[in-house]
Amino acid sequence: MADVAGEAAVIHQRIAVSFEYPVCFTRNAFAPENPVLTEVVARREPARRHRVFPMIDEGVARRHPGLPARIQAYIAAHPDQLALAAPPHPVPGGEAAKNDPAVLDGLLGRLQAAGMDRQSVVLAVGGGAVLDAVGYAAAITHRGVRLVRMPTTVLGQNDSGVGVKTAINAFSAKNYLGAFAPPFAVVNDFDFLAALEARDRIAGIAEAVKVALIRDAAFFGWLEGAAPALTAFRPAETERMIRRCAELHLAHIAGCGDPFEMGSARPLDYGHWAAHKLETLTHHELRHGEAVAIGMTLDANYAVRVGMLAEADYRRIRGLLARLGFRLWHDALARPGQHGKRAVLAGLDEFREHLGGDLTITLLTGIGRAVEVNEIDTALVEEAILALERDDRAP
Ligand SMILES: NC(=O)c1ccc[n+]([C@@H]2O[C@H](COP(=O)([O-])OP(=O)(O)OC[C@H]3O[C@@H](n4cnc5c(N)ncnc54)[C@H](O)[C@@H]3O)[C@@H](O)[C@H]2O)c1
Ligand SMILES: [Zn+2]
Repeated sequence: MADVAGEAAVIHQRIAVSFEYPVCFTRNAFAPENPVLTEVVARREPARRHRVFPMIDEGVARRHPGLPARIQAYIAAHPDQLALAAPPHPVPGGEAAKNDPAVLDGLLGRLQAAGMDRQSVVLAVGGGAVLDAVGYAAAITHRGVRLVRMPTTVLGQNDSGVGVKTAINAFSAKNYLGAFAPPFAVVNDFDFLAALEARDRIAGIAEAVKVALIRDAAFFGWLEGAAPALTAFRPAETERMIRRCAELHLAHIAGCGDPFEMGSARPLDYGHWAAHKLETLTHHELRHGEAVAIGMTLDANYAVRVGMLAEADYRRIRGLLARLGFRLWHDALARPGQHGKRAVLAGLDEFREHLGGDLTITLLTGIGRAVEVNEIDTALVEEAILALERDDRAP
């Protein structure tokens, strides 16, 4: 194509930006002699001092009295590389961090007051919700200040904390506002997990089951064998589960060809269309992982109904999730919605609207084998819901 002056009328622009970040596994990260955090913060400019602003999940701080002081002492113990940009700032724990717009405003105000620049580091210590909220604030401040995530939950360490997304909830929709913003580094400190409530420990295992189901049948088999150790929260098996799950998530993000989800597929969100809707319908009474366990069971039951998945595989999936301690039913599944359909089915439209394009749902054709489908028969989803209710009542 040429315009009247003979010049090209279209200049095709192409930009490739690559990201790299370490995901470290350690213990007692704030022991002054532990070099991991200092090394990852200073890795690009080792001769310089780096300003660090710690932001701490209040739930974590409650269970770890003295944590803010230990973080300050750690920074003080590495004066050549680290400097405190502002005293540790507490952030409400759990979904409240993502639901309340005042939390985001507060975070942005603190970042501004501390004079954070694009090479300063926000150190987010907390569960997936706090990491999401702090990550979003960091992503939109100066178009992105460096974020070091220190996830303190199973789910944070094996899934949400290691990926490239941040978000908060808005307009009654989960993750409505957000940004793709890879972290500067991730430091997984296993010692944080000991103080987690049993419910939160178990909830995070749902994401390991998910990634095994879509990617790795051998890992699924391992999870079946390790289920008693995982529910007892034995450190060796728990840490192996977290590491393998994080590895599979990272490999997917790096190798899928669409890390920022420009297309319509979200394979890592297997079981999530119903899960996100259930979280909203229950006003977050269900934990994310608990909702994902129900969503995966529902989609596996549906896959049997459309002839994609063997009944025996469905029983294995259901059996593993039940043995891990998940209840695979919530009354919100039965709640009526608009047009005579159940309320949860609106999750399909919201899932499609989030990405645009065709509805794309990940379903299983076997354990470790996933495919994308573009149509869902809602009458069969209704049947699958009834089946989940029946199974829940079965002795
Ligand atoms: N960005 C992503 O890619 C991504 C992926 C998956 C999930 N998520 C999000 O992650 C959130 C769920 O995260 P979660 O499962 O980590 O739960 P959470 O962040 O909601 O935390 C649950 C509770 O545990 C407390 N807590 C956290 N760490 C603790 C510790 N070490 N000891 C004691 N208490 C502790 C918190 O204060 C909170 O009360 C959801 O909002 C979900 O949407 C994000
Ligand atoms: Zn999830």
